[in-house]
Amino acid sequence: MVPTAENPDPASGDDTHFDVVIIGGGPGGYASALYGASAGLRVAMVEKRWIGGTCLNVGCIPAKELLETAAVYRAVAGAKEFGVLTDAPGLDFGITQDRKQSIIDNLVNGLGGLLKGRKVTVLDGVGRLDADHRTVRVSGGESGDSSITGDAVILAAGSTTRTIPGFDIDGTVVLTSDEVLAIREIPASAAVIGGGAIGCEFASMLSDLGSKVTILEALPKILPGVDSEVAQVVQRSFKKRGIEVRTGVQVTGHTPGDQGTTIEVADGESVQVDVVVVSVGRRPYVDELGLDATGVTVTDRGFIEVDENCRTSVDGVWAVGDVIPTAQLAHVAFAEGMVAIRDILGENPVPVDYGRIPLCIYCHPEVASAGHSEESAKEAGFDVVVSKHRYAGNSRAMIVGETEGLVKIIAVKEADGTGGQILGVHMAGPWVTEQLGQAYLAVNWEATVTEAAAFIQPHPTLSETFGETLMALTRRSLH
Ligand code: FAD
Ligand code: NAI
Repeated sequence: MVPTAENPDPASGDDTHFDVVIIGGGPGGYASALYGASAGLRVAMVEKRWIGGTCLNVGCIPAKELLETAAVYRAVAGAKEFGVLTDAPGLDFGITQDRKQSIIDNLVNGLGGLLKGRKVTVLDGVGRLDADHRTVRVSGGESGDSSITGDAVILAAGSTTRTIPGFDIDGTVVLTSDEVLAIREIPASAAVIGGGAIGCEFASMLSDLGSKVTILEALPKILPGVDSEVAQVVQRSFKKRGIEVRTGVQVTGHTPGDQGTTIEVADGESVQVDVVVVSVGRRPYVDELGLDATGVTVTDRGFIEVDENCRTSVDGVWAVGDVIPTAQLAHVAFAEGMVAIRDILGENPVPVDYGRIPLCIYCHPEVASAGHSEESAKEAGFDVVVSKHRYAGNSRAMIVGETEGLVKIIAVKEADGTGGQILGVHMAGPWVTEQLGQAYLAVNWEATVTEAAAFIQPHPTLSETFGETLMALTRRSLH
């Protein structure tokens, strides 16, 4: 092993053999490393490009930073309503990009410090698993070429962008999230292909900052996995702000022109825009793991197959994060990393409950959910009762000037028609990403409506709407 300047030496002992070797330094990999090291394991982590992975470098963090710029712009543009008189906001996107990068740098440096503090050996290079399932060959990076072995190996190689036929990524007209996060100017117009999490966040951000945005979504609704009524709130809000949302459309190709391009849609219509953002999902990145000779099973869609404890088909090898066929979210990768480490330690971990994970989408209005939507609860065979409360009646929402949105709670229907166990909470509206906590706990603690409604919500807060929605399910309410 060749130690780097930043990571001089593993804690002690043999520097070519570790308790755990991890390939990939994104949320799945670094969570495994930090959690494993804090449990006393000697850990090596191989990363070929940047620690923090997609999340810190070209995912969650930069995307949320640009959305925050959009929120500040919106607040300044709407300041007059509060009697705060300013000139119309201007935008220097170069400053935005520099701010974004400094946040990334801070977080990446902080993570480097944490790994060092826990004595994790970080190797810079591509890691490939050998046919013996214990050896990882490291090559092509600053750490030089070497082989290390682990009693356990965790594959955490993550995912990468993907596109659709006819839309080659050129970085100027046809972009993926990677390129959008690096733009220096806001395009006058943009088409977003795919109305999922990335599509809605970017559509919202670009529109707030002045782009004319069209979303082209193949399915009948945007935001897959989100309750239909909640997705409708977002769609209506987008429409009000001038974002055109076209669902159930099939994009067939595009013809570049002098400026931008014209996208052809199967119904014969076309959309002329300056840039196209392709956000049709991400593909698992197993390309450089060398799995062919290892017997690790990879599915038809390219994901590594695992059991509920993230064990692959091969003894001693685990896989976590975007490279396995579970929700592609940073916090899910963290949770899977911890399950894998606990399994390696023989601690019989509680597997991740994928039906109840938290989901937060940071478009405007924000979306947050945990557990069943009304549709999925019914599909699962539950007899449900549903309650909805809009933020329009919430005093704090009026004060902050964000009254759009609702809280929807889906509960088991009791014989008397009241709500029993809370199956799911889906919300759209002001700061719902920060309000999800108590809904998440209620769903995961399998609380009943009566139990959760007994807790006091502080006044005036946005979370009173959650409390009111619960109370309505008890058939008694205040407001
Ligand atoms: P990654 O983060 O992709 O990390 C994998 C790492 O492995 C990479 O650094 C890669 O260089 C390295 N690697 C790959 N192969 C090898 C190899 N053979 N050898 C060495 N190194 C290798 N999730 C959320 O929860 N919330 C959000 O708000 C959110 N926003 C997002 C916004 C965008 C624009 C995008 C693209 C994603 C977003 N995500 C969000 C998803 C989140 O980023 C991913 O779920 C998360 O990064 C997955 O972590 P991971 O460790 O599995 O993979
Ligand atoms: P996604 O799976 O969320 O959405 C992709 C959308 O594209 C779907 O609605 C799909 O129907 C549509 N689509 C697919 N092919 C199409 C086509 N040919 N034409 C038109 N529409 C098409 O994937 P997305 O948005 O690319 O994000 C990738 C992953 O990153 C997500 O699965 C999510 O887990 C993660 N992410 C999470 C965020 C968050 O938690 N806030 C933010 C951004 C990304």
